[in-house]
Amino acid sequence: MSVADRLLGELGPDIVSTGAQIPDRNRADWSGLPAVLPLALVRPRTTAQVATALRICNETATPVVTQGGLSGLCGGAHPVEQGLALSLERMNRVIGVDVAQATLTAEAGCILQVAQQAAADQGMMLAVDLGARGSCTVGGVIGTNAGGNQVLRYGMTRDHVLGLEAVLADGTVLPAMNRLLKNNVGLDLKQMFIGTEGTMGVVTQAVFRLHPRPTSGATAFVGVADSAAMLALLSTARKALGPALISFEVMWPSFYDIMRAGSGAAHPLAGQHGVYIVIEAGGFDPSVRERLETTLGDAMEAGIIEDAVIAGNLREERALWAVRESVSEYPRIIGKLTPFDIGIPLDRMAEAVATLEAAITARWPDARALSYGHMGDSNLHLVVNVPSAGDDQPSKEIKALVYGLTREYAGTVSAEHGIGIIKRDVIGYSRSPEELAAMRAVKAALDPRGILNPGKAFA
Ligand code: LAC
Ligand code: ZN
Repeated sequence: MSVADRLLGELGPDIVSTGAQIPDRNRADWSGLPAVLPLALVRPRTTAQVATALRICNETATPVVTQGGLSGLCGGAHPVEQGLALSLERMNRVIGVDVAQATLTAEAGCILQVAQQAAADQGMMLAVDLGARGSCTVGGVIGTNAGGNQVLRYGMTRDHVLGLEAVLADGTVLPAMNRLLKNNVGLDLKQMFIGTEGTMGVVTQAVFRLHPRPTSGATAFVGVADSAAMLALLSTARKALGPALISFEVMWPSFYDIMRAGSGAAHPLAGQHGVYIVIEAGGFDPSVRERLETTLGDAMEAGIIEDAVIAGNLREERALWAVRESVSEYPRIIGKLTPFDIGIPLDRMAEAVATLEAAITARWPDARALSYGHMGDSNLHLVVNVPSAGDDQPSKEIKALVYGLTREYAGTVSAEHGIGIIKRDVIGYSRSPEELAAMRAVKAALDPRGILNPGKAFA
Protein backbone atom coordinates (compact mmCIF):
# COMPACT_ATOMS: atom_id res chain seq x y z
CA MET A 1 0.00 0.00 0.00
CA SER A 2 1.33 3.48 -0.80
CA VAL A 3 2.12 5.94 1.99
CA ALA A 4 -0.70 8.22 0.82
CA ASP A 5 -3.16 5.30 0.95
CA ARG A 6 -2.03 4.34 4.46
CA LEU A 7 -2.46 7.95 5.62
CA LEU A 8 -5.87 8.12 3.97
CA GLY A 9 -6.86 4.80 5.50
CA GLU A 10 -5.92 5.81 9.06
CA LEU A 11 -6.76 9.53 8.98
CA GLY A 12 -9.43 9.87 6.29
CA PRO A 13 -9.96 12.33 3.43
CA ASP A 14 -10.89 15.25 5.72
CA ILE A 15 -7.29 15.23 7.03
CA VAL A 16 -5.33 13.93 4.04
CA SER A 17 -5.26 15.54 0.56
CA THR A 18 -3.31 14.49 -2.49
CA GLY A 19 -2.59 15.74 -6.02
CA ALA A 20 -4.83 18.49 -7.35
CA GLN A 21 -6.64 18.71 -3.99
CA ILE A 22 -3.53 20.24 -2.43
CA PRO A 23 -4.01 24.02 -2.34
CA ASP A 24 -1.38 26.24 -3.98
CA ARG A 25 -0.61 27.89 -0.62
CA ASN A 26 0.81 24.62 0.74
CA ARG A 27 3.13 24.16 -2.24
CA ALA A 28 5.53 27.00 -1.40
CA ASP A 29 6.54 29.43 1.35
CA TRP A 30 7.73 33.06 1.05
CA SER A 31 11.34 32.03 0.24
CA GLY A 32 10.76 32.48 -3.49
CA LEU A 33 11.75 28.85 -4.22
CA PRO A 34 9.73 27.23 -7.02
CA ALA A 35 6.49 25.55 -5.92
CA VAL A 36 6.61 21.81 -5.21
CA LEU A 37 3.74 19.31 -5.13
CA PRO A 38 4.23 17.17 -2.01
CA LEU A 39 3.31 13.50 -1.84
CA ALA A 40 0.36 14.40 0.38
CA LEU A 41 -0.87 17.22 2.57
CA VAL A 42 -1.98 16.32 6.08
CA ARG A 43 -3.98 18.90 8.03
CA PRO A 44 -4.57 17.35 11.47
CA ARG A 45 -7.08 18.62 14.01
CA THR A 46 -5.50 16.88 17.02
CA THR A 47 -2.11 15.92 18.42
CA ALA A 48 -3.13 12.26 18.11
CA GLN A 49 -3.55 12.74 14.35
CA VAL A 50 -0.08 14.36 14.13
CA ALA A 51 1.29 11.32 15.98
CA THR A 52 -0.44 8.92 13.58
CA ALA A 53 0.97 10.73 10.54
CA LEU A 54 4.49 10.72 11.97
CA ARG A 55 4.31 7.04 12.94
CA ILE A 56 3.37 6.12 9.36
CA CYS A 57 6.08 8.37 7.89
CA ASN A 58 8.70 6.94 10.25
CA GLU A 59 7.78 3.36 9.36
CA THR A 60 8.01 4.17 5.66
CA ALA A 61 11.01 6.58 5.89
CA THR A 62 8.89 9.34 4.34
CA PRO A 63 10.16 12.94 4.74
CA VAL A 64 7.93 15.33 6.71
CA VAL A 65 7.94 19.10 6.24
CA THR A 66 5.93 20.95 8.90
CA GLN A 67 4.07 24.09 7.84
CA GLY A 68 2.64 27.02 9.78
CA GLY A 69 1.85 30.42 8.25
CA LEU A 70 4.35 29.83 5.42
CA SER A 71 5.82 33.33 5.87
CA GLY A 72 9.36 32.03 6.40
CA LEU A 73 11.99 33.48 4.07
CA CYS A 74 14.51 30.62 4.07
CA GLY A 75 12.53 27.61 2.82
CA GLY A 76 12.16 25.81 6.17
CA ALA A 77 8.47 25.09 5.43
CA HIS A 78 8.93 24.58 1.69
CA PRO A 79 7.57 21.12 0.80
CA VAL A 80 9.61 18.38 -0.87
CA GLU A 81 8.52 15.91 -3.54
CA GLN A 82 8.00 12.41 -2.12
CA GLY A 83 7.49 14.03 1.29
CA LEU A 84 4.53 14.91 3.44
CA ALA A 85 3.49 18.51 4.02
CA LEU A 86 2.14 18.57 7.58
CA SER A 87 0.21 21.79 8.05
CA LEU A 88 -0.85 22.80 11.57
CA GLU A 89 -3.31 25.35 10.15
CA ARG A 90 -6.36 23.65 11.72
CA MET A 91 -4.82 23.44 15.19
CA ASN A 92 -5.21 27.18 15.60
CA ARG A 93 -6.94 27.80 18.94
CA VAL A 94 -5.87 29.89 21.87
CA ILE A 95 -6.39 27.32 24.62
CA GLY A 96 -6.35 29.84 27.45
CA VAL A 97 -4.83 32.84 29.19
CA ASP A 98 -3.87 32.46 32.85
CA VAL A 99 -3.67 35.97 34.24
CA ALA A 100 -2.40 35.00 37.70
CA GLN A 101 0.39 32.85 36.27
CA ALA A 102 0.91 35.31 33.35
CA THR A 103 0.85 32.62 30.67
CA LEU A 104 -0.93 31.97 27.39
CA THR A 105 -1.43 28.49 25.96
CA ALA A 106 -2.12 28.06 22.26
CA GLU A 107 -2.09 25.41 19.60
CA ALA A 108 0.86 25.67 17.20
CA GLY A 109 -1.23 26.79 14.22
CA CYS A 110 -2.63 29.82 16.06
CA ILE A 111 -1.87 33.05 14.16
CA LEU A 112 0.53 35.19 16.23
CA GLN A 113 -1.75 38.24 16.11
CA VAL A 114 -4.68 36.17 17.42
CA ALA A 115 -2.57 35.05 20.38
CA GLN A 116 -1.38 38.65 20.97
CA GLN A 117 -5.01 39.84 20.96
CA ALA A 118 -6.09 37.11 23.41
CA ALA A 119 -3.38 38.30 25.81
CA ALA A 120 -4.36 41.97 25.27
CA ASP A 121 -8.02 41.15 25.99
CA GLN A 122 -6.89 40.09 29.48
CA GLY A 123 -4.79 43.23 29.98
CA MET A 124 -1.54 41.35 29.34
CA MET A 125 1.00 41.30 26.52
CA LEU A 126 2.57 38.54 24.44
CA ALA A 127 5.77 40.43 23.67
CA VAL A 128 6.84 38.41 20.62
CA ASP A 129 6.12 40.73 17.68
CA LEU A 130 7.15 40.90 14.04
CA GLY A 131 5.93 42.28 10.73
CA ALA A 132 4.33 38.97 9.65
CA ARG A 133 2.18 38.84 12.83
CA GLY A 134 -1.05 38.53 10.80
CA SER A 135 0.22 35.54 8.77
CA CYS A 136 2.75 33.67 10.88
CA THR A 137 1.77 31.06 13.46
CA VAL A 138 3.08 30.63 16.98
CA GLY A 139 4.47 27.23 15.92
CA GLY A 140 6.43 28.85 13.08
CA VAL A 141 7.66 31.55 15.44
CA ILE A 142 8.93 28.79 17.77
CA GLY A 143 10.42 26.78 14.89
CA THR A 144 12.50 29.74 13.73
CA ASN A 145 13.09 31.30 17.19
CA ALA A 146 11.78 34.47 15.52
CA GLY A 147 13.05 37.91 16.54
CA GLY A 148 11.33 41.12 15.46
CA ASN A 149 11.23 44.71 16.64
CA GLN A 150 11.18 44.30 20.45
CA VAL A 151 13.98 41.81 21.01
CA LEU A 152 16.14 44.52 22.55
CA ARG A 153 13.67 44.76 25.45
CA TYR A 154 11.96 41.36 25.61
CA GLY A 155 14.30 38.86 23.96
CA MET A 156 13.87 36.29 21.20
CA THR A 157 11.01 33.78 21.05
CA ARG A 158 13.12 31.40 23.14
CA ASP A 159 12.79 33.83 26.03
CA HIS A 160 8.98 33.63 25.89
CA VAL A 161 8.36 29.89 25.67
CA LEU A 162 7.85 28.21 29.05
CA GLY A 163 6.73 24.84 27.79
CA LEU A 164 5.52 22.96 24.75
CA GLU A 165 4.15 19.70 23.46
CA ALA A 166 5.98 18.09 20.56
CA VAL A 167 5.55 14.90 18.58
CA LEU A 168 8.78 13.03 17.92
CA ALA A 169 9.66 11.40 14.61
CA ASP A 170 8.33 7.98 15.67
CA GLY A 171 4.99 9.42 16.80
CA THR A 172 5.80 9.63 20.52
CA VAL A 173 4.03 12.61 22.10
CA LEU A 174 6.41 14.54 24.38
CA PRO A 175 4.36 16.44 26.96
CA ALA A 176 6.56 19.31 28.18
CA MET A 177 3.87 21.90 28.88
CA ASN A 178 5.70 23.56 31.76
CA ARG A 179 3.91 26.69 33.07
CA LEU A 180 6.45 27.68 35.72
CA LEU A 181 9.02 30.43 35.27
CA LYS A 182 11.49 28.36 37.27
CA ASN A 183 11.88 24.64 36.70
CA ASN A 184 15.37 23.21 36.96
CA VAL A 185 14.55 19.51 36.78
CA GLY A 186 16.94 17.99 34.27
CA LEU A 187 17.41 18.93 30.63
CA ASP A 188 15.26 21.78 29.29
CA LEU A 189 13.99 19.64 26.42
CA LYS A 190 11.80 22.35 24.88
CA GLN A 191 14.93 24.16 23.68
CA MET A 192 15.54 21.35 21.18
CA PHE A 193 12.42 22.36 19.27
CA ILE A 194 12.93 26.14 19.40
CA GLY A 195 14.79 27.51 16.38
CA THR A 196 15.37 24.06 14.88
CA GLU A 197 12.88 24.46 12.04
CA GLY A 198 10.94 21.22 12.46
CA THR A 199 14.02 18.99 12.32
CA MET A 200 13.69 17.63 15.87
CA GLY A 201 9.95 17.14 16.24
CA VAL A 202 6.60 18.74 15.46
CA VAL A 203 5.48 21.34 18.01
CA THR A 204 1.72 21.00 18.53
CA GLN A 205 1.05 23.47 21.36
CA ALA A 206 2.99 25.80 23.63
CA VAL A 207 2.85 27.82 26.83
CA PHE A 208 4.07 31.42 26.47
CA ARG A 209 5.12 33.77 29.20
CA LEU A 210 3.17 37.05 29.23
CA HIS A 211 4.29 40.51 30.29
CA PRO A 212 2.35 43.45 31.68
CA ARG A 213 1.33 45.88 28.97
CA PRO A 214 3.28 49.20 29.32
CA THR A 215 0.96 51.95 30.46
CA SER A 216 2.83 54.81 28.84
CA GLY A 217 5.07 55.17 25.84
CA ALA A 218 6.46 57.41 23.14
CA THR A 219 7.81 57.01 19.61
CA ALA A 220 10.56 59.13 18.06
CA PHE A 221 11.99 59.44 14.56
CA VAL A 222 15.60 60.59 14.52
CA GLY A 223 18.07 61.71 11.84
CA VAL A 224 21.81 61.36 12.48
CA ALA A 225 24.84 62.08 10.31
CA ASP A 226 26.35 58.60 10.05
CA SER A 227 26.61 55.08 11.45
CA ALA A 228 29.02 56.17 14.17
CA ALA A 229 26.48 58.70 15.46
CA MET A 230 23.76 56.04 15.29
CA LEU A 231 25.85 53.73 17.49
CA ALA A 232 26.58 56.56 19.91
CA LEU A 233 22.84 57.23 20.18
CA LEU A 234 22.12 53.54 20.83
CA SER A 235 24.59 53.53 23.66
CA THR A 236 23.20 56.80 25.10
CA ALA A 237 19.57 55.63 24.80
CA ARG A 238 20.35 52.35 26.53
CA LYS A 239 21.90 54.12 29.49
CA ALA A 240 19.28 56.86 29.73
CA LEU A 241 16.17 54.76 29.16
CA GLY A 242 17.17 51.38 30.56
CA PRO A 243 14.31 48.89 30.24
CA ALA A 244 12.08 51.63 28.79
CA LEU A 245 13.99 51.29 25.49
CA ILE A 246 11.81 48.86 23.53
CA SER A 247 12.82 49.34 19.87
CA PHE A 248 15.80 50.88 18.11
CA GLU A 249 15.15 50.33 14.42
CA VAL A 250 17.67 51.74 11.98
CA MET A 251 17.33 52.60 8.27
CA TRP A 252 20.18 53.74 6.05
CA PRO A 253 19.26 55.99 3.07
CA SER A 254 19.85 53.00 0.75
CA PHE A 255 16.69 51.51 2.30
CA TYR A 256 14.85 54.61 3.45
CA ASP A 257 14.84 56.64 0.23
CA ILE A 258 13.63 53.79 -2.01
CA MET A 259 11.01 52.47 0.40
CA ARG A 260 9.70 55.94 1.28
CA ALA A 261 9.27 56.82 -2.38
CA GLY A 262 7.77 53.40 -3.13
CA SER A 263 5.33 53.40 -0.22
CA GLY A 264 4.38 57.06 -0.61
CA ALA A 265 4.93 57.65 3.12
CA ALA A 266 5.64 61.19 4.34
CA HIS A 267 9.15 62.15 5.51
CA PRO A 268 8.81 63.22 9.16
CA LEU A 269 11.91 65.48 9.19
CA ALA A 270 12.75 68.67 7.27
CA GLY A 271 16.05 67.51 5.76
CA GLN A 272 18.04 64.49 4.66
CA HIS A 273 20.32 62.58 7.03
CA GLY A 274 22.96 59.85 6.91
CA VAL A 275 20.95 57.37 9.03
CA TYR A 276 17.32 57.31 10.26
CA ILE A 277 16.16 55.68 13.49
CA VAL A 278 12.77 54.80 14.96
CA ILE A 279 12.90 54.67 18.75
CA GLU A 280 10.06 53.20 20.77
CA ALA A 281 10.06 53.79 24.52
CA GLY A 282 7.56 52.34 26.96
CA GLY A 283 7.10 51.68 30.63
CA PHE A 284 4.92 52.12 33.68
CA ASP A 285 5.83 55.62 34.65
CA PRO A 286 4.08 58.60 32.97
CA SER A 287 7.49 60.27 32.68
CA VAL A 288 8.64 57.91 29.88
CA ARG A 289 7.84 60.48 27.20
CA GLU A 290 9.66 63.22 29.09
CA ARG A 291 12.68 60.95 29.54
CA LEU A 292 12.78 60.23 25.81
CA GLU A 293 12.53 63.98 25.08
CA THR A 294 15.36 64.74 27.51
CA THR A 295 17.50 61.92 26.11
CA LEU A 296 17.10 63.21 22.57
CA GLY A 297 17.57 66.85 23.65
CA ASP A 298 20.82 65.97 25.41
CA ALA A 299 21.97 63.93 22.40
CA MET A 300 21.28 66.89 20.13
CA GLU A 301 23.27 69.23 22.36
CA ALA A 302 26.12 66.71 22.40
CA GLY A 303 26.10 66.76 18.59
CA ILE A 304 25.06 63.08 18.31
CA ILE A 305 21.79 63.71 16.48
CA GLU A 306 20.86 66.23 13.80
CA ASP A 307 17.06 66.27 14.04
CA ALA A 308 14.24 64.40 15.76
CA VAL A 309 10.48 64.37 16.14
CA ILE A 310 8.31 62.66 18.77
CA ALA A 311 4.81 61.49 17.84
CA GLY A 312 1.97 63.39 19.52
CA ASN A 313 -0.70 60.74 19.04
CA LEU A 314 -1.30 57.22 17.80
CA ARG A 315 -1.77 58.31 14.18
CA GLU A 316 1.58 60.11 14.20
CA GLU A 317 3.20 57.07 15.82
CA ARG A 318 2.04 54.84 12.97
CA ALA A 319 3.34 57.42 10.48
CA LEU A 320 6.83 57.31 12.06
CA TRP A 321 6.84 53.52 11.62
CA ALA A 322 5.43 53.62 8.07
CA VAL A 323 8.63 53.28 6.04
CA ARG A 324 10.08 50.66 8.42
CA GLU A 325 6.86 48.66 8.10
CA SER A 326 6.66 48.94 4.31
CA VAL A 327 8.88 45.84 3.93
CA SER A 328 5.81 43.73 3.16
CA GLU A 329 5.64 45.72 -0.09
CA TYR A 330 9.05 44.58 -1.35
CA PRO A 331 7.63 42.57 -4.26
CA ARG A 332 5.80 45.64 -5.60
CA ILE A 333 8.47 48.25 -4.80
CA ILE A 334 11.67 46.25 -5.46
CA GLY A 335 10.72 43.11 -7.38
CA LYS A 336 12.81 39.94 -7.03
CA LEU A 337 15.33 40.24 -4.26
CA THR A 338 17.92 38.43 -2.18
CA PRO A 339 17.28 39.14 1.52
CA PHE A 340 19.67 38.77 4.46
CA ASP A 341 19.31 38.73 8.25
CA ILE A 342 22.97 38.71 9.19
CA GLY A 343 24.36 39.62 12.59
CA ILE A 344 27.50 41.75 12.89
CA PRO A 345 29.24 42.78 16.13
CA LEU A 346 28.39 46.44 16.75
CA ASP A 347 32.01 47.58 16.83
CA ARG A 348 32.27 46.52 13.16
CA MET A 349 28.75 47.44 12.06
CA ALA A 350 29.54 50.87 10.53
CA GLU A 351 32.41 49.43 8.51
CA ALA A 352 30.36 46.37 7.50
CA VAL A 353 27.41 48.37 6.13
CA ALA A 354 29.68 50.64 4.08
CA THR A 355 31.81 47.74 2.82
CA LEU A 356 28.84 45.52 1.92
CA GLU A 357 27.01 48.26 0.00
CA ALA A 358 30.21 49.28 -1.83
CA ALA A 359 31.14 45.68 -2.71
CA ILE A 360 27.71 44.99 -4.14
CA THR A 361 27.56 48.11 -6.28
CA ALA A 362 31.16 47.57 -7.44
CA ARG A 363 30.18 44.11 -8.72
CA TRP A 364 26.74 45.05 -10.13
CA PRO A 365 26.78 48.79 -10.95
CA ASP A 366 22.99 49.14 -11.12
CA ALA A 367 22.40 47.09 -7.94
CA ARG A 368 20.29 48.35 -5.09
CA ALA A 369 21.58 47.22 -1.67
CA LEU A 370 19.07 48.29 0.97
CA SER A 371 20.44 48.37 4.53
CA TYR A 372 18.28 48.47 7.65
CA GLY A 373 17.86 46.47 10.79
CA HIS A 374 17.46 45.88 14.49
CA MET A 375 20.64 47.58 15.72
CA GLY A 376 19.87 46.92 19.38
CA ASP A 377 20.26 43.24 18.45
CA SER A 378 23.33 43.67 16.15
CA ASN A 379 21.02 42.40 13.38
CA LEU A 380 21.50 43.87 9.91
CA HIS A 381 18.98 43.27 7.16
CA LEU A 382 20.38 43.75 3.71
CA VAL A 383 18.12 43.34 0.71
CA VAL A 384 19.73 43.20 -2.71
CA ASN A 385 18.18 43.65 -6.13
CA VAL A 386 19.94 43.95 -9.48
CA PRO A 387 17.35 45.65 -11.74
CA SER A 388 19.10 44.67 -14.99
CA ALA A 389 18.85 40.98 -14.00
CA GLY A 390 15.03 41.07 -13.83
CA ASP A 391 13.55 37.82 -12.58
CA ASP A 392 16.89 36.05 -12.87
CA GLN A 393 18.73 37.61 -9.90
CA PRO A 394 22.37 36.51 -9.38
CA SER A 395 21.42 35.29 -5.90
CA LYS A 396 24.17 32.72 -5.63
CA GLU A 397 26.91 35.27 -6.23
CA ILE A 398 25.23 37.88 -4.04
CA LYS A 399 25.05 35.37 -1.20
CA ALA A 400 28.68 34.34 -1.67
CA LEU A 401 29.75 37.97 -1.41
CA VAL A 402 27.57 38.90 1.59
CA TYR A 403 28.18 35.72 3.60
CA GLY A 404 31.89 35.86 2.83
CA LEU A 405 32.11 39.35 4.32
CA THR A 406 29.86 38.33 7.25
CA ARG A 407 32.33 35.60 8.06
CA GLU A 408 35.22 38.07 7.93
CA TYR A 409 33.39 40.28 10.42
CA ALA A 410 32.84 37.29 12.76
CA GLY A 411 29.10 37.69 12.32
CA THR A 412 26.25 35.22 11.95
CA VAL A 413 24.62 34.17 8.67
CA SER A 414 21.26 34.03 10.43
CA ALA A 415 20.27 36.33 13.26
CA GLU A 416 16.53 35.66 13.23
CA HIS A 417 15.08 34.09 10.06
CA GLY A 418 16.63 30.61 10.29
CA ILE A 419 18.59 28.48 7.87
CA GLY A 420 15.99 26.53 5.89
CA ILE A 421 17.35 25.51 2.52
CA ILE A 422 18.85 28.75 1.38
CA LYS A 423 21.59 29.09 4.02
CA ARG A 424 22.48 25.43 4.41
CA ASP A 425 25.79 25.70 2.61
CA VAL A 426 27.03 28.55 4.84
CA ILE A 427 26.14 27.36 8.35
CA GLY A 428 29.79 26.44 8.80
CA TYR A 429 30.58 30.18 8.61
CA SER A 430 28.85 30.74 11.94
CA ARG A 431 29.14 27.39 13.78
CA SER A 432 32.24 25.26 14.38
CA PRO A 433 32.49 21.68 13.02
CA GLU A 434 32.30 20.44 16.64
CA GLU A 435 29.04 22.34 17.24
CA LEU A 436 27.51 21.00 14.03
CA ALA A 437 28.56 17.43 14.89
CA ALA A 438 26.94 17.71 18.34
CA MET A 439 23.73 19.11 16.78
CA ARG A 440 23.61 16.19 14.34
CA ALA A 441 24.23 13.64 17.10
CA VAL A 442 21.22 14.92 19.04
CA LYS A 443 19.16 14.94 15.87
CA ALA A 444 20.13 11.32 15.05
CA ALA A 445 19.16 10.19 18.55
CA LEU A 446 15.61 11.57 18.21
CA ASP A 447 15.08 11.04 14.50
CA PRO A 448 17.27 8.05 13.54
CA ARG A 449 15.67 7.66 10.11
CA GLY A 450 16.11 11.37 9.36
CA ILE A 451 12.51 11.97 8.29
CA LEU A 452 12.01 15.42 9.84
CA ASN A 453 12.76 18.21 7.37
CA PRO A 454 15.71 16.43 5.73
CA GLY A 455 18.11 18.72 3.90
CA LYS A 456 16.94 21.73 5.92
CA ALA A 457 18.69 23.71 8.65
CA PHE A 458 21.53 21.55 10.05
CA ALA A 459 19.76 18.24 9.30
C1 LAC B 1 12.19 42.64 9.15
C2 LAC B 1 12.04 41.21 8.78
C3 LAC B 1 12.28 40.96 7.35
O1 LAC B 1 12.70 42.92 10.22
O2 LAC B 1 12.81 40.40 9.61
O3 LAC B 1 11.77 43.50 8.36
ZN1 ZN C 1 13.91 41.55 11.07
